[in-house]
Amino acid sequence: MKILLLNGVNLNMLGRRDPKFYGTDTLSQLEDKVVSYASQRGATVQCRQSNCEGELVNILQQTDCDAVIFNAGAYSHYSYALRDCIECISVPVAEVHMSDVDNREQFRRNDVLADVCVARFTGKGTRSYLDAVDFFTAK
Ligand code: DQA
Repeated sequence: MKILLLNGVNLNMLGRRDPKFYGTDTLSQLEDKVVSYASQRGATVQCRQSNCEGELVNILQQTDCDAVIFNAGAYSHYSYALRDCIECISVPVAEVHMSDVDNREQFRRNDVLADVCVARFTGKGTRSYLDAVDFFTAK
């Protein structure tokens, strides 16, 4: 199985964002953990990150992976472009958030991607991503 690990806006700033919500790992340390965890489960992982909504749409539309683990960052709360994209591609997308978005500010409770994704993992830091790996590799 080939998994696309796609991180969206501001996730390149991991390691410099509030550790209370996002831990201390940088994006590349997080990616290394996901790659190594997935490889123990027989999956390969392609890692991508973009701050640009349209670029994230392009990456999703063009992916040849079997599954996507996607943290869209703040776009999750309002991007109908990403929602429409996920709805029309055939590859399954699992939504991930490091922080517990349902118990933070009110605006983070609005999630326009949730019902077009096949699963949602929140509030566990890096473990949210690893749970998404488990979800796809258990199938
Ligand atoms: C986030 C939560 C979002 O609300 C926020 O805008 C992010 C990160 C998370 O991983 O917890 O950038 O997606």
